[in-house]
Amino acid sequence: MTKGLFITFEGADGCGKTTQIELLDKYLKENGKQTLLTREPGAKGLGTKLREILLNYDGEVSPQCESFLFLADRAQHIDCIIRPALQEGKVVLCDRHTDSTVAYQGYGRGLDLDRINMLNDIATGGLKPDLTIVFDVDVETSMQRVGKEKDRMESAGMEFFNKVRQGYLEIAKKEPERVKVINSSDTIENIHKQVMELIKEL
Ligand code: TYD
Repeated sequence: MTKGLFITFEGADGCGKTTQIELLDKYLKENGKQTLLTREPGAKGLGTKLREILLNYDGEVSPQCESFLFLADRAQHIDCIIRPALQEGKVVLCDRHTDSTVAYQGYGRGLDLDRINMLNDIATGGLKPDLTIVFDVDVETSMQRVGKEKDRMESAGMEFFNKVRQGYLEIAKKEPERVKVINSSDTIENIHKQVMELIKEL
């Protein structure tokens, strides 16, 4: 049994979730909560090596291989970092998790969704976030925010990112209890307020 709270932040590149996760972390710490701010891919240790390959390898990478690398990182992250923190009663804030693989490798790259869900389940040992917040913004805006310097994933193109965005919206439709969507084209302060509403409900 886990004692802490597990909250994941999701959305396409440039959606603004990293700014929001940092604001929430600051708020919770100031209010006496013990938090762990972490991310996928590549929280630390072995994960940082996998992150380097996933974001910067410039040769061919098959979609299956890409999925397994993200999943390997996730298994390590869950076993060595997330589960122990939850057992200590911490609030774990994770920048990307299982839904990224569904949105990017499933909806984006076109891999079978049932298989990805099954593999995610194996990687996490069945542990699910208590709350997932999807930051939704149109692809033009998110690509402008990413800027010209793009990593391997960010270079996948507009069509790919439209599929990723639709993927996240589908995930939210399928699991409305766990997954909440916030319109991320608003100001940083207004988006933070919406995040706080969701946290208070939780
Ligand atoms: P990162 O620089 O962490 O992006 P962001 O700041 O937008 O979170 O890069 C992570 C990239 O990896 C991002 O493009 C999304 C992608 N990704 C997947 O394709 N599948 C996954 O399972 C995960 C965790 C990330």
